Amino acid sequence: MITELKRGVFWVGAVDWALRHFHGHELSTHRGSAYNAYLITDEKNVLIDTVWAPFQEQLLANIREVIDPAKLDIIIVNHAETDHSGSLPAVMRLAPNATVVVSKRGRESTEGHHHQAWNYKVVQTGDRINIGKRDLVFIEAPMLHWPDNMFTYVAGDNILMSSDAFGQHYATASHFNDEVDQQALFQEALKYYANILTPFSNMVARKIDEVLALKLPVDIIAPSHGIIWRKDPLQIVKKYQEWAAQVPEKSAVIVYDTMWEATRLMAEAIGEGLTEEQVPYKIFYAPVSDRNDVITEIFKTRAVIIGSPTFNQGLLPSIMPLLEDLKGLKFQNKIGGAFGSYGWSGESVKIIQEILANCKIPIVTEGVRAKWQPIAEDLAKCRQFGKTVGQAVKK
Ligand code: FEO
Repeated sequence: MITELKRGVFWVGAVDWALRHFHGHELSTHRGSAYNAYLITDEKNVLIDTVWAPFQEQLLANIREVIDPAKLDIIIVNHAETDHSGSLPAVMRLAPNATVVVSKRGRESTEGHHHQAWNYKVVQTGDRINIGKRDLVFIEAPMLHWPDNMFTYVAGDNILMSSDAFGQHYATASHFNDEVDQQALFQEALKYYANILTPFSNMVARKIDEVLALKLPVDIIAPSHGIIWRKDPLQIVKKYQEWAAQVPEKSAVIVYDTMWEATRLMAEAIGEGLTEEQVPYKIFYAPVSDRNDVITEIFKTRAVIIGSPTFNQGLLPSIMPLLEDLKGLKFQNKIGGAFGSYGWSGESVKIIQEILANCKIPIVTEGVRAKWQPIAEDLAKCRQFGKTVGQAVKK
């Protein structure tokens, strides 16, 4: 079923209510997602993006509610990741003479995914294509979040089709921001930013400045996932500016794994030390916690405290994916710490500290270790460790 954004501009995408993992199993999507594609009917008929291939029949059915897909003249690939270009071959089979508009890097990625000699037109920032009553203006947006991403601005209708930027994995019955649960919407927008866009925060800030400097009127921001921002559309731009600055809350996140509860007791004692300093914190038991939700909490916080017992002279495996994410996401303005129990060799704290240092998360103070089960003296050290970290958080 289609939705009209403005006269002659339609949402023709697909809502994926069942999706619970994205990028394979890399990213959890508790609230599903939507693959947004847009159709503009004018002297030339234009499709902006497609949908993930399993939803291609839905895309084609939606287009057919407005026009015969064979009448598509232009297909814009704002981004060639297959959640958006997966149905491109199906569309091109019906409209083989359509022009495929891409950025320079978009041509590379579209050809790389589909290996088809389509009729490409490469555009760059500032290029315009007239489609009748409207001009489409292109703005390259590399690393938001792939090198190939670009925005398409629909002049006259004042719609910025922003590809992945400003999106969320959020399946909803309504497509508009003023008709959905606000808490869920911003939670999903933040999770999306924290887990996907954080490493590119400097580029996000620069791109937003560049787009705002163009002083384009913006009535609607239409991303390629989730809801469309039509009420106060620039509110999500302001949120992105805030998130890109990565100014943390004065709080802490403790993430740990444990074999026989010793490291759990240490985690909770560290929390008591933080409380003594009036620093709020959350504790996550890594094996039963959603990694992407933990990353979202880490994104918001100042102190990241990681605990693991020593296991095979290393860490318990559940901690490693999180540390790998910390390395890749390149969080800024964090401080860190490590703790863990051990029975024999006791390397875990040193290993965690080394990894945090590699992630450019400086260690506040030497981590705490407890041999076997922690005794009162060990737990007192953990509380003191929590206090020291808490004091650093408040500075
Ligand atoms: Fe939604 Fe980068 O694809």
